[in-house]
Amino acid sequence: MTAARIIDGKAFAAHVRAGVAAEVARLKQHHGLTPGLTVVLVGEDPASQVYVRAKGRQTVEAGMLSGEIMLPATTSQDALLAEVARLNADPSVHGILVQLPLPAQIDEQAVISAIDPAKDVDGFHPVNVGRLALGLEALIPCTPQGCLLLLREVLGTFAGKKALVLGRSNIVGKPMAQLLLRESCTVTIAHSRTRDLPAECRQADILVAAVGRPELVRGDWIKPGAVVIDVGVNRVPAADGKSRLVGDVCFAEALAVAGAITPVPGGVGPMTIALLLRNTLTAACRAHGIAPESLAAPATAAANPASARITLQTPDTLPSKDEKL
Ligand code: GUN
Repeated sequence: MTAARIIDGKAFAAHVRAGVAAEVARLKQHHGLTPGLTVVLVGEDPASQVYVRAKGRQTVEAGMLSGEIMLPATTSQDALLAEVARLNADPSVHGILVQLPLPAQIDEQAVISAIDPAKDVDGFHPVNVGRLALGLEALIPCTPQGCLLLLREVLGTFAGKKALVLGRSNIVGKPMAQLLLRESCTVTIAHSRTRDLPAECRQADILVAAVGRPELVRGDWIKPGAVVIDVGVNRVPAADGKSRLVGDVCFAEALAVAGAITPVPGGVGPMTIALLLRNTLTAACRAHGIAPESLAAPATAAANPASARITLQTPDTLPSKDEKL
């Protein structure tokens, strides 16, 4: 058995970011417009602080304006909603991201719903969730978009393939299933109550694992040759008394069975911020009536893989919005 191709998400994310940076430069040059992304962090969770710093750095590297609002863990819901309202009204802010999770006194859904859907670069607002489900133009959650780009890079098109999404979160599982359905896959969503999970997984040509359970998916759960996308990032104790990151898939076992697999770290993770930057660029363009596609360099298509641009919303690649079968 040959080892699976390891999908280099780190390199692909760098390539997506470079494409975004080039388009931002063109947006500035031709339209005098600089996209702006503001991230709001409530509290001092160390992992969230690391994410927020990385987002800020990569936003600046892409040539965009980066705002960071750090609020104490004791912030009230009303104070956070007032901050969101201020950002909604600020024309220099095209993307707003409120880092999750939020402290217990704040209702996450109330905050997400208060963000202007046109600035909701996470794609979590009910308007964007609904528009994605309806096949309308939307801001689409970043991690599933990143997974889709990696799948397209490996598979080209994947209409008709059996896809299994393991996990039903609003951030990854549900939007991932919607995107795969839009690509005309036959989609199953599996979760904690699914009967005979290994047997369900073994049917899948595409397996996306997003449950946050370290190495839940074993090698013998995987269909030979399947493409495995591992969204899990789990910290587990290591032999040397320190800790290490593992995914939701047992990588060593999967390597011998899968056709291609994303590593952890260095697979899906870096794609999330890259797609956040792309969503911010898209939001800025739409706010000013500029077609995002108009910024793509003619040479881009030849020099870069076709999948580096998101072609989800071209009508001729999609089933019609109300297609029943
Ligand atoms: N926390 C972990 N991942 C995410 C994400 O993609 N968006 C937000 N807003 N918070 C997160």
